[in-house]
Amino acid sequence: MKAFPKEFADWLTPRGRRILDGKERDVVGALLDPARPFVSLQGVIDPRRAAACRDALDAAMRETMVPMEDPIPADSISGQTMNYMELLPKTVRVSTALLESRRSRSWRAAESVGLTDMLRSDTFAGFAAAVTGRALRRKWGIQALCYGPGDYSGPHNDHHPEEPEARDGYVDMHVSLTLPGVDHQYLIYAQDGHFTQMAPVSTVGGITVYRLPFWHYTTPLLARKGKEETSRRWVLLGTFLDAAPGARPATTILPAQPPAKRLPAR
Ligand SMILES: [Fe+2]
Repeated sequence: MKAFPKEFADWLTPRGRRILDGKERDVVGALLDPARPFVSLQGVIDPRRAAACRDALDAAMRETMVPMEDPIPADSISGQTMNYMELLPKTVRVSTALLESRRSRSWRAAESVGLTDMLRSDTFAGFAAAVTGRALRRKWGIQALCYGPGDYSGPHNDHHPEEPEARDGYVDMHVSLTLPGVDHQYLIYAQDGHFTQMAPVSTVGGITVYRLPFWHYTTPLLARKGKEETSRRWVLLGTFLDAAPGARPATTILPAQPPAKRLPAR
């Protein structure tokens, strides 16, 4: 038996189900508010089941991940010619598995624990549609990331102005599966032009949903003292484009609608 359920819905708590069904008014459609680019949800995935999946994923995929590193450019200080004119491109250090190629070792490992099936299930996209309140394109990207001790991503905005389908905004949904050796990791994001907002992401089964682009960064993962060996945070990731206006229903994932307000009984 595979560790992950085939349908994302089967991983959810009753509250998670209610969100998927469009019944949690505080969450459903939350990201339609342009002032709110980000939602963090807890208690949506059962933590015991999430931990069991995390351990199976960690055992299967740990050795297949590919390190990715974009450091601060070496000449970013020595090559600077004017005061206060420093520029910082996106910096990052994380391990990654693109799950698009069926021939990769990562794909086979993810498949063996049932991860690819779950990330491809309609209810995974349906959950993103419910929280964002948007119709999403049925073809979406999936990926797994793994942050080890000191891994992070520097300030960036994930804007893709060269891609017509993404340049007006798109949606990311992340599920965090954190091992017990992690002390903390945070997402910091901008509101009103300043990096003032902070949300813990070192959760077991916490879901974060993003309406990109907006400025954000992920702080370095900090291990508990002496627990570096089990200090990793896995991130399961879906990237969703908005459905094109007038797109055929077969190519679209629709958000569940909140139940119509009942008229008071006479
Ligand atoms: Fe990002």
